[in-house]
This record gives sequence, structure tokens and C-alpha cells, in this order.
Amino acid sequence: MSRWPDIPLEDTFGDVLRKAMRGNAVNTATRATQTGIDASAIDAWLADDGSANAPEARALAKALKLNPERMVERAADAFVPPKVAMDSVQQHTQDSRPNSNGYVIFRGDRKRAALVDPAGTPAHLLQLLRDGDFDLQYILVTHKHNDHSGAVAAVAKAYPNAQIVMHPLDAPAIGALASTALPANDGATFPFGDGAQIRVLHTPGHTDGSVCYLVDSTIFTGDILFSGSVGGAYGDKSTYADVLRSVSTKIFTLPDATAIMPGHGPPSTVSVERAHDPFFF
Ligand SMILES: [Fe+2]
Repeated sequence: MSRWPDIPLEDTFGDVLRKAMRGNAVNTATRATQTGIDASAIDAWLADDGSANAPEARALAKALKLNPERMVERAADAFVPPKVAMDSVQQHTQDSRPNSNGYVIFRGDRKRAALVDPAGTPAHLLQLLRDGDFDLQYILVTHKHNDHSGAVAAVAKAYPNAQIVMHPLDAPAIGALASTALPANDGATFPFGDGAQIRVLHTPGHTDGSVCYLVDSTIFTGDILFSGSVGGAYGDKSTYADVLRSVSTKIFTLPDATAIMPGHGPPSTVSVERAHDPFFF
């Protein structure tokens, strides 16, 4: 069993503010007027310079439809994500750029494996797969951004028997390989040996074709949900409201103990995020 390296939350208090302001389509001046907080103070927090006190955090939360007490917790830098055991999951550490999280999911003998989000320098990733002597069955792509899909072609070439799985709305990003990808439509399942399966949850919002992969009691969320935050809305059609709806209806309805392996930042669990993520109530 391995544990996650100690890495900070993906999003600071300032990042949470920025995402909520963008999601609610307001600027600093408007928000300052609504909360009575000096605009220059809000701008400083957006730049991670200092932080709000509790009354200020509550006022901002109320104006931005965020959870007031959870914003107080974040402003005080008091939220610490849980230590999550990584059984049968190995993080494939990539280059510092992109700093995204990819994973190898493997079964008992480590031979049968699925790769989540190949990105970074292909040579590093291929070396890790060779070192693990993995028999790669699937290349699971959570969404189209380059820091999650940039090495699909290199891995597919090295492992021609591995099936690419990607949502049809995002698959054009991998070019001609899209025609060979299995569609990651909502509810689709893929057998993963010993009666186990990989289940797809379509979670639009970050991109239109963003999906999560649920394997046993671990969910790989890509950039729709981070510990203590959510991903930004960058879909062609999907919106900030879709981000919040996808997380609350598809992820927070899973059992409490479900482990969350996000596309950036440390892992968490459904029960912890349901209780602490400032975007939810
Ligand atoms: Fe992304």
C-alpha cells in the first residue's frame, strides 16, 4: 500500500474566490459594492496576498453563493484533506509541467492494468509502465485538455492492445485516434477482470465531455472535482452550474468512503468533500 506524497491543495482561498466570481459572472468592483469589503483587499486575496477574516469570508460566501462556514475554514487555511490509502493505484508522477495527476490502476498481480490520463513527457510514462511490467488493458481519459491526454498517442502506440476510452464530445482532441476510442458514455461499463468493472459517470462542466471513472470504491475525477474545490468551467456548452450539478448529483451521491483521486492536488473521500468543499451546502 502506498500513500500520496504530501502535496498542497490545488486551489487556494484566492482560487476559490476567482472561480466563484467567474462562475457568478461578477468582477471585483461589483463584489466589493455588495459586500462592503474594499476592492483592493479582494484583489489582494485573489493574488494569494493575505486572507479574509471570518466576517469577510462569510460576506463573500453569501454574495457568491458559497458555503459561509466552509469559506471561513478556507480563509483560515484550516482545511486539511484526509490521508487516503492508495491500494491498487499508483500515481504516475509526471513532469513538473504539466503538474496534473495521472494514475495506473492495477489488479492483484499488477499485470492487468488501466491507465488514467496519460500526459507529460511520454518517455517517462512509458518507462514507468515498463518498470511495473503492466499489461495495459485500457487508456482512460477524463477529458480533452493536454495535461490529461497529451501522451495518449505515445501510449497507444506502445500498447496497441490497450483500448482508449474517452467521451465522444472530447475525443476529437486526440485526432485520428478518436475513431478507435470506446465511447465513455454515462453509465457505460468496461470489464476489468475478476468480475470487476470500470464504470463511467458523465460529469460535464469542466469540459463538455468530462467523465469520471469509478473502479471498486475509488473514483478518478479528472478536473471536475478537486479536494476543497471544483474545476473551472471551460466547456463549449457546459457551464459553472453544470460543474456544481455534476459533482452534487454524480459524485456526492456515492458512498461516504469512496476515495477521490483528482486530476490535480491531493486525494480525498466523498464524505470529506461533501462536508468541507466550499462550493456546496
Ligand atoms: Fe482540465
